[in-house]
Amino acid sequence: MMTREEAWQIVCDHVQAVGLRRHMVAVEAAMRRYAGLLGEDVELWGLAGLLHDYDWEIHPTLETHPKAGIPLLAGRGVPEPVLHAILAHNSEGTGVERESKLDFALLACDEVTGLVIAAALVRPTKDVRDVEVKSIQKRWKEKAFAAGVDRPGVEVATADFSRVAFDGALDLWTHVGHVVAAMQGAAAALELDGRLAKPA
Ligand SMILES: [Fe+2]
Ligand SMILES: [Fe+2]
Repeated sequence: MMTREEAWQIVCDHVQAVGLRRHMVAVEAAMRRYAGLLGEDVELWGLAGLLHDYDWEIHPTLETHPKAGIPLLAGRGVPEPVLHAILAHNSEGTGVERESKLDFALLACDEVTGLVIAAALVRPTKDVRDVEVKSIQKRWKEKAFAAGVDRPGVEVATADFSRVAFDGALDLWTHVGHVVAAMQGAAAALELDGRLAKPA
């Protein structure tokens, strides 16, 4: 199986934007946490998060991303369940439907990380460890906050993941709490550990 290091190399070779790299590290952290909670393969789920948007800069349309990026991953030995999950995070573009818990988890974690990153970056400390779920909750309806995050889409993806993996018991704010906790555990890898704060 591909190692985390090999996957990160693929990301570094194809993604220049710091924000996109950070997005994938964030989704990776969330996926690893859920794999642990669900007794699934932590390394496998982490790979799906870390690699899912690796081709966005070379295939920057929803018609080509992520489909056109799959052959490279397959050629490097990325396991089939990961390829399936990556394809299924854009079912509309690829025609690949979400089936496994891994597939649903990836979509459910994808955009939520954007809320958490935004919440960290609006804080003077620029530290994800200072982010609280209730501050995200307060700004959920604020359109300018994490403007790119499609709230109804997040609600549907969370409900689907909850149904498939938690018998419907995972509510939106518990989910956000898991993603926040996961990202706090990866603060340094996300560079959201205070290093971006302006010196006083
Ligand atoms: Fe994507
Ligand atoms: Fe993504």
